[in-house]
Amino acid sequence: METTYLVVTTALFAAVVNCCPPADLSALLAFKSALTEPYLGIFNTWTGTDCCTNWYGVSCDPTDSHVIHVILRGESEDKLMIDKTSQISYMSGSLSPSVCSLDRLTTLIVSDWKGISGEIPACITSFSHLRILDLTGNQITGEIPADIGKLGKLAVLNIADNNITGNIPPSIVNLRNLMHLDLSNNRISGEIPADIGKLSMMSRVLLKQNQLTGKIPTSITKIYRLADLDLSMNQISGTIPAELGSMPVLSTLYLDNNQLYGEIPVSILRNAGLNIVNLSSNSLVGYLPDVFTPTTYFSMIDLSHNELKGSIPASLTSAKYIGHLDLSNNHFCGAIPAGSPFEQLEASSFSGNDCLCGTPLTRVC
Ligand SMILES: *[C@@H]1O[C@H](CO)[C@@H](O)[C@H](O)[C@H]1NC(C)=O
Ligand SMILES: *[C@@H]1O[C@H](CO)[C@@H](O)[C@H](O)[C@H]1NC(C)=O
Repeated sequence: METTYLVVTTALFAAVVNCCPPADLSALLAFKSALTEPYLGIFNTWTGTDCCTNWYGVSCDPTDSHVIHVILRGESEDKLMIDKTSQISYMSGSLSPSVCSLDRLTTLIVSDWKGISGEIPACITSFSHLRILDLTGNQITGEIPADIGKLGKLAVLNIADNNITGNIPPSIVNLRNLMHLDLSNNRISGEIPADIGKLSMMSRVLLKQNQLTGKIPTSITKIYRLADLDLSMNQISGTIPAELGSMPVLSTLYLDNNQLYGEIPVSILRNAGLNIVNLSSNSLVGYLPDVFTPTTYFSMIDLSHNELKGSIPASLTSAKYIGHLDLSNNHFCGAIPAGSPFEQLEASSFSGNDCLCGTPLTRVC
């Protein structure tokens, strides 16, 4: 008798706590019906009425059972052994706007399935709790919703490796909690918003391989926490703001393959925290300043394919460490200094200059 009572109350309790709200349930079922994932069958787990238990990738708030996370990552599926270069689409279909009914969602990750197409549902900007939006590695087209700035809690916006077009919406600067912005490898055009520096929480800004034009906004140098900046493979012009070299935690700077001109700011070569710098394939001119010191530490510095001239500064030999240095395809002239790091570098680091000589080049001085 007592046992029966216990079993019944436990079952009731479980039903009350675990059952997902009907609105969330129908939103998830509509989301599922717009997608096809034939390899793992993960949507086979999306059956029954309790979306909070054993639904692959779905988690609910433990107190009131509202759906708070939908996390479907193709890349983390070892069983698929996803090869980044393969053309196989592991999930196809599109992102149903029904997902927007999950109004308590804090995390929406549907990444690296390669085949999801269609647009980012415009209604996603109504999520008032969303902290992570990651749709990397699909074939999403269309534009970033113009009112993306309404996502006041957003910390991570990652839509890299898709086919997104249009501009970076000006409202993006209202995402005051944004820490990671990755729009790499899309077809985004127009300029980087001049007031991007308002995003003071950002630590990574990755905009590589798009069709961005205009200048590097000076305001970006006001982002105190910025550690990684990648603007490579765009059509950005103008000069490199000298203030980039005085950013306190900047450690990687990729500006390669743009249309930057003017001289390399001395501050960039002197910044002790900056240790990966690629300025290759621009139209940078002038001399390489003789400003290196025993605190200079670069894992990689690539200045190749520019219009730099003069001699290679002797102070480079005083650097604490230079892992990779590429000065090829410029107009440098004169003797390559002897000693570290030059003794470890290959001739290809110096090829294509006007009149360099000495080891590792075969041309004797
Ligand atoms: C996305 O872009 C790639 C390469 O540019 C192209 O092969 C593919 O067809 C595009 N997909 C869509 C859905 O437009
Ligand atoms: C620097 O950028 C150029 C141009 O985008 C690229 O070809 C090169 O591999 C990069 N250098 C390194 C060392 O990654």
